Amino acid sequence: MTIDYAEKIPNNVELASNRTLQRALEHWQPEFQHWWADMGPEGTRTADVYLRTAISVEPKGWAHFDYVKMPDYRWGIFLAPAEADRKVNFGAHKGEPAWQEVPGEYRSNLRRLIVTQGDTEPASVEQQRHLGLTCPSLYDLRNLFQVNVEEGRHLWAMVYLLHAYFGRDGREEAEALLERRSGDADNPRILGAFNEKTPDWLAFFMFTYFTDRDGKYQLCSLAESGFDPLARTCRFMLTEEAHHMFVGESGVGRIIQRTCEAMVQHKVDNPAKVRALGLIDLPTIQRYLNFHFSVTMDLFGADVSSNAATFYSTGLKGRFDETKIGDDHVLTGATYPVLEVREGKLVTTQAPALNALNEKLRDDYVKDALAGIERWNKLIDRSGVAFRLKAPHKAFNRRIGPLSSARIDPDGNVVSEADWTHRHLEWLPSEADRAFVASLMGRVTEPGRFANWIAPPARGINNQPVDFEYVRFN
Ligand SMILES: [Fe+2]
Ligand SMILES: [Fe+2]
Repeated sequence: MTIDYAEKIPNNVELASNRTLQRALEHWQPEFQHWWADMGPEGTRTADVYLRTAISVEPKGWAHFDYVKMPDYRWGIFLAPAEADRKVNFGAHKGEPAWQEVPGEYRSNLRRLIVTQGDTEPASVEQQRHLGLTCPSLYDLRNLFQVNVEEGRHLWAMVYLLHAYFGRDGREEAEALLERRSGDADNPRILGAFNEKTPDWLAFFMFTYFTDRDGKYQLCSLAESGFDPLARTCRFMLTEEAHHMFVGESGVGRIIQRTCEAMVQHKVDNPAKVRALGLIDLPTIQRYLNFHFSVTMDLFGADVSSNAATFYSTGLKGRFDETKIGDDHVLTGATYPVLEVREGKLVTTQAPALNALNEKLRDDYVKDALAGIERWNKLIDRSGVAFRLKAPHKAFNRRIGPLSSARIDPDGNVVSEADWTHRHLEWLPSEADRAFVASLMGRVTEPGRFANWIAPPARGINNQPVDFEYVRFN
């Protein structure tokens, strides 16, 4: 199925045949464009950006690359193809046909899941809106904008579900999604990590590596939903998400590569001397990693959660790779290990598996995140520098759940408040670290040139050369 680009809102959901829905979305569209003008990438209205636009949901050739002015980007609504005879695959309704309409008794929980997911999409655009002013290259600038427009499209995806399936309260929620603001004292975004600042490009790459990966795991569990339109929407969003994580992994990797090459070339390993070369030292990269890893841990929610149990039992949100798991997909009586602080130590206890689903998803995520950290370590190894990056313990620096009541170091030891005060800046970026990284952020816009602190990528986007003019300023 291809998308009809003649329509005001590109879509593969036969919008033209539903006048009421079409009108509701056409009413929301200018509000979205106002939001984009207000809160989208700063100072970029007239730039032509070499962007990927989704034009179909076919695995081959789903995207089209061309120069676009971002305000004219065709944000559309695409659902992955329906699976014939799809069933609810878990929970109390296991085996029943998947729902094509919202089951009345689960309406408010389902809406809440969609709104929570939807809220993260514009939030990250808001968090990243200043970064274009300090881009390390045109290639990176283009990648930032690609992530931004696709987060915009993900907002459209959730707004479509709200408008199409939730009537008046769905429309109100869709408007509220454009009213909350990341970091706003009075009307913040829903989840903590989406109210943090993304002040520099190291933070941006860490965010896209760690936090967009949380997005992947949330989307994967929603892609298992018994509510079929949500499942299909999320499945298509995942195709775009892969690039966001690539931007993060390769971005951090290129910073590491540049730092290590210079460390070897100049025979320095003292962080101050590395900084004197205008490069980001590896311990600072580790502290940023600790920060982004830990705020992302909190996005999975409380370790033991009755909401998580409800979402699962009612068939709304499954586990990662639900249908590939060889158990009964109901989980009554099953248990799962969770952490607790007892007598000054972290101990593992068994919780009902249904209540520990946030923890299970967090563990699945951690496995995936660790693999990329090892790929970064390979880059360090290959350069000959003796240093290893490490993920902190999943209990480190938590703000949500029972672990937030204790101070836990990156190795998983419970430490006193005094120790934490004394040592936390060994573990987390200080104001001085952030100020140093900020001091490196300039603006490089000559095709093929890269800021001193980052290596060029191995290859360009869509088979274009690295020195391609990915953004044209007019
Ligand atoms: Fe997204
Ligand atoms: Fe993303």
